[in-house]
Amino acid sequence: MQNIQIDPTTQSVISLLFKDAKLDPIRAAKGMAKTIFRPIEPKDLENVYLPISQEQGDFFYETILENDLKSIVEFGTSFGISTLFLAAAVKQTGGQVITTELLSSKAQTAQKNFEKAGLENVIELRIGDAIETLKNLNQPIDFLMLDGWKNLYLPLFKQLEPLFHQRTVIYADNTDMSDTQPFLNYVYHQKDTYKTQRIHQGKGALIKLR
Ligand SMILES: C[S@@+](CC[C@H](N)C(=O)[O-])C[C@H]1O[C@@H](n2cnc3c(N)ncnc32)[C@H](O)[C@@H]1O
Repeated sequence: MQNIQIDPTTQSVISLLFKDAKLDPIRAAKGMAKTIFRPIEPKDLENVYLPISQEQGDFFYETILENDLKSIVEFGTSFGISTLFLAAAVKQTGGQVITTELLSSKAQTAQKNFEKAGLENVIELRIGDAIETLKNLNQPIDFLMLDGWKNLYLPLFKQLEPLFHQRTVIYADNTDMSDTQPFLNYVYHQKDTYKTQRIHQGKGALIKLR
């Protein structure tokens, strides 16, 4: 893969967000202190980024540019780090990103980050449960990024499958987590339809149609 650089304005916003995300472990510990007697919920991590890495973001950027992908859908915006990589790429290809976040407080901060990077015009941020917010989607998906609550990967993937086409690229993050296994089993069992490659030290799964 050739070395394509993201534009400096977007990269400087992203770098500041990554710097702030270094406080994730402290913020997460505070949120998770409440969850001793019940499973963790998105609201417990309201102040936590849980971002992809710079390496993953650069990979998204390069993949979108190299394949001239335009219609991007993302599950799990958080404060918008991954979305900024996707948006910087579609600004070059002439496309658009639809991203969705359950928590409105996180979405509001993400929207401000999009504006700081001057990328708000290529991002549509849908607030709410992805299963609902992406229900009426009817355009073909060129690139799908799965990075929200892990037990929703499979139902959401199945919901969006009719919108895939021969050149669709799917990236699922955190595929080293046990909650993503039902999803991985589903794609692995459809060997005639999908080819799956584990990348980024097994953290990500890259899925393409055969
Ligand atoms: C791992 S974080 C996303 C990180 C982001 N992609 C990044 O790299 O900066 C997962 C996000 O998904 C959100 N989320 C969880 N369940 C969701 C749902 N049902 N619909 C939409 N967003 C959801 C969480 O609130 C959280 O902000």
